[in-house]
Amino acid sequence: MLGKIFLLLYVLVQIGVSVLTEYVIQKNRFYKTIGKKTRILRIFIYGILAVIPVLGAFLPKSSFKYWCMGFGNLWLGFFMFYSAFVVFDTIIILGFSKIRKDKEWRALGQAFNVAFVLAVIISAYGLIHAQDPRIVNYEINIDKETKNTKELKVALIADLHLSVNSDVKLTRKMVEKVNSVNPDLVLIAGDIFTSNYGGLRNPEKYSDALSKMKARYGVYAVSGNHDVDENLFIGFAISPVSDAFRTSEMEQFFDDCGFKILYDENVEIADGEIVLSGRVDGEKAGDGTSNRMDAKALLSTVDQTKPVLVLEHEPVEFKALAENGADAVFCGHTHNGQIVPGNLIIPFFNENAYGLKKLHGIDTIVTAGVGYYGPPIRVGTDSEVTVVDITFGKDN
Ligand SMILES: [Fe+2]
Repeated sequence: MLGKIFLLLYVLVQIGVSVLTEYVIQKNRFYKTIGKKTRILRIFIYGILAVIPVLGAFLPKSSFKYWCMGFGNLWLGFFMFYSAFVVFDTIIILGFSKIRKDKEWRALGQAFNVAFVLAVIISAYGLIHAQDPRIVNYEINIDKETKNTKELKVALIADLHLSVNSDVKLTRKMVEKVNSVNPDLVLIAGDIFTSNYGGLRNPEKYSDALSKMKARYGVYAVSGNHDVDENLFIGFAISPVSDAFRTSEMEQFFDDCGFKILYDENVEIADGEIVLSGRVDGEKAGDGTSNRMDAKALLSTVDQTKPVLVLEHEPVEFKALAENGADAVFCGHTHNGQIVPGNLIIPFFNENAYGLKKLHGIDTIVTAGVGYYGPPIRVGTDSEVTVVDITFGKDN
């Protein structure tokens, strides 16, 4: 049902943009000589491109399906910018045609060419920029006394989104950045995959790279809403949560990487001086449900005289975590919007959409993530390794 609704919306948008494209091209100065002749070819190519993401979502598992997914993501990334420019062109042309009655405004149809080239340039920039992770630093203090551990350097990463559009070079760069700060602890806040394992080419290259991350107290992770196997169409799951399971291949991959995955579990690190609590994702637990322990049940068994760090995929339930003894919460999921204007929109839907924010008396840290969801593009946001220097005790 969900798949049918998304498919209908998608078809309507594609037809709408195709019609606007024709309208704008007809205003082009060269329309009479070139535009008319290429109309059929143009519509044919556009139609093929528009169908590829549909095949990627709905075909059964095969290498052709994964190719369609990968190419479809690229096309959708370009399509976002392209459709925005086509709509903008149409508004400009319509506006000028009201002001000027002569044919001069038709020259504005040239804007289509400019818009097309601009969309190509922005997409190309986004592709390159998405492969360039940077380090973002924060400092926090937790007002609890510890005996020997006065400082803790945490490297927080998330949203690797390993899938059809992944490049192992980005994973290697990320590992280099993490190791360059010599962290005491590495935390991975989920979405290691993008809802499939089969689409990742040469997974052993990724596990080999990820296994080289080094931290004094180890590499801990939680699973995200995309660490399950399910079909996505234009970014949305087209099957119910009851069909979303984490596969044994995914779990084997985590083992090969040396990750300690926390499924609603508490562990003590730094010679037992600090508590680390890892939550199951609240949207997709990985077992065909959304079931997980609530904050109270999870934290009721920890020694709350010790600093309590919580690792969770989605930046939610900060209040409940604060009320039940958490001192700092580490999350991902938002990608900081990934592509502008996403970064301007997400603060309306999240208490903390990105960065370090004091909420309900505790520190909440949301990383922009390393990878990308859907289009392998970042524009207006950065791929990020987040480094949090924590000090403990009142005197710091
Ligand atoms: Fe994500």
